[in-house]
Amino acid sequence: MIKFLEGKLIYLRAIALSDVNESYLKWLNEPDVTTGLASGTFPTSLESLRLYVEQKSADKNTIMFAICDQKSNKHIGNIKLDNFDWVSRTCELGVLIGEKDFWGKGIGSEVCKLTIRYALQQLNIRKILLAVYANNPGAIKVYEKIGFVKEGTLRQHIWSNGEYIDKHYMGLFASELKA
Ligand SMILES: CC(C)(COP(=O)(O)OP(=O)(O)OC[C@H]1O[C@@H](n2cnc3c(N)ncnc32)[C@H](O)[C@@H]1OP(=O)(O)O)[C@@H](O)C(=O)NCCC(=O)NCCS
Repeated sequence: MIKFLEGKLIYLRAIALSDVNESYLKWLNEPDVTTGLASGTFPTSLESLRLYVEQKSADKNTIMFAICDQKSNKHIGNIKLDNFDWVSRTCELGVLIGEKDFWGKGIGSEVCKLTIRYALQQLNIRKILLAVYANNPGAIKVYEKIGFVKEGTLRQHIWSNGEYIDKHYMGLFASELKA
């Protein structure tokens, strides 16, 4: 197992086609996991997931990591940086912890900080952006704790569970990242 970035609870390694299995597929078909994501709207099959991972791995404008538990090496989620603008030195962050047993243990915060430090220090990125739906207060709390600041809202932009909800954009500069 080649570890690329290492935290206390988790480590990150490149995602691979061999990560596409029934467990990963289950995350994307589980409403609890996908409520705050664009992913859950349509069903995902093993074939479409394989294609997605293949495309993301080949895309020069995306860096996608598998999040793995330090103790068991289990693949528990993914985190990615994409939409790089190498002139303005910005990129976007997206995180998914698919294994619900691993929620609420500080992994979301640790994995976001680890990936953000990599973007700021190794890729010389200046500012990280992310989008989060208003029906995902857990994610908003994680992002605010890290130091993200709400920058704008697309009002009633997303149809989710029978209502239109806001989509927020949050941003973070290096100086705002909390230890
Ligand atoms: C959102 C997500 C990344 C949070 O990860 P996590 O590992 O559970 O978060 P942490 O344990 O680091 O929590 C950090 C803080 O946020 C709080 N928090 C996390 N989830 C919460 C929730 N659903 N409701 C309320 N607070 C929550 C924690 O209590 C903690 O606060 P504390 O330090 O004051 O105790 C994870 O639940 C997830 O991947 N969900 C599915 C996909 C998703 O929604 N991704 C984000 C899309 S924008």
